[in-house]
Amino acid sequence: MMEFLRKADPEMADIMQKELERQRNTLELIGSENFTYEAVLEAAGSVMTNKYSEGYPFKRYYGGNQFIDLSEQLAIDRAKKLFNAEHANVQPHSGSQANMAAYFALLEPGDTFIGMSLAHGGHLSHGHPVNFSGKIYKAVQYGVRKEDQLIDFEQIRKLMKEHKAKLMVMGATAYPREYDFKQAREICDEFGCLLMADIAHIAGLIVGGVHQHPFPHADVVTSTTQKTLRGPRGGLILCKEEYAKAIDRAVFPMMQGGPLDHIIAAKAVCFHLAMQPEFKDYARQIVKNAKAMAEELISQGLDLVTGGTDTHLILADVTPKGLTGKEAETVLDEVGITVNKNMIPFDSRKPFDPSGIRIGTPALTSRGMKESEMRQIADMIVKVLEHPNDESIKKKVREEVKELCEDFPLYPEIEYI
Ligand SMILES: Cc1ncc(COP(=O)(O)O)c(C=O)c1O
Repeated sequence: MMEFLRKADPEMADIMQKELERQRNTLELIGSENFTYEAVLEAAGSVMTNKYSEGYPFKRYYGGNQFIDLSEQLAIDRAKKLFNAEHANVQPHSGSQANMAAYFALLEPGDTFIGMSLAHGGHLSHGHPVNFSGKIYKAVQYGVRKEDQLIDFEQIRKLMKEHKAKLMVMGATAYPREYDFKQAREICDEFGCLLMADIAHIAGLIVGGVHQHPFPHADVVTSTTQKTLRGPRGGLILCKEEYAKAIDRAVFPMMQGGPLDHIIAAKAVCFHLAMQPEFKDYARQIVKNAKAMAEELISQGLDLVTGGTDTHLILADVTPKGLTGKEAETVLDEVGITVNKNMIPFDSRKPFDPSGIRIGTPALTSRGMKESEMRQIADMIVKVLEHPNDESIKKKVREEVKELCEDFPLYPEIEYI
């Protein structure tokens, strides 16, 4: 399949081959990752990358866009149908870009908005001081309650009273429970504030019917397409018709140049596949898998943030096992289990070596694994965390990882070389 690449650039072909093997031979539990469909890989690696198409379908600054127009319009129509949205912009290059465009459309520089703090699970682009969102705007940050680690709506209400934010962002990167968009809307209505739902992580769960829908509550919805939605790496904005013009202008010409037409084609493919009845089963299985994994981790003595999960994500405090998050990430990597270190709410440790790890089930669910494999993997995780220096245990787990990977082959029809 990649014979041209191998001939033109064997050095890069080798790297890519190794990455494919890494993906095949390890257990991918990074909560923000997934294995996209072969059809999406083909669209993303297609001739659509050759075209320049600044503007929007049927209103372009370049000639020769008759098929690119059809592709982008198809992506827009499918996104609107899939998410029951009045308007869709499929051009943002990534989730951060989608958020940037939404802020540009809804706020003026210096305006106040409120988002979840990174330390409690929010994303950098929700107002962190090192990010554009915290530099261009006055960002007020909310968090979770100490007692149950759930989003603190009373704190949000208090902060709204004090700061009169113009926009509220609901959605996060490391929060394992369902977002209550309805309650967020009620608070926004009390204070005359706009609501933006960032569904980057949970988009697939929403269209699969296993998470509350952000519409009709949110004014604007931003997302990525690569996480639970299982599409290409990219961004997406959905909104009510009254914000459509402002959103489109904010994406182009304000924030981006030419759209990534190959990625837009790949987004259209993933939207189509997410409309199929099987996608609902897939989304349900992601959550069932996360719940099974959470139950097993708890029964083996790990502390989970909020005591469990409603979604694809689990946040575990690993310090009771005598390890830090960074140490846990490293030792699990050694046996072929990929997770990421993560802050837990009210963490006394620092982001580069926090107390927790984040575990997510979308990628292994895409490989066909179910609850019994999740329990087996949870058991493997705990074994390794309890015996990080025991080479014979680690060797045994490494073999178990290999067997599981062979039983659930990834891209069996793709050879690449
Ligand atoms: C909630 C949320 N929003 C936005 C983003 C940013 O997406 P990207 O990495 O595509 O810029 C992420 C990425 O993890 C995210 O979790």
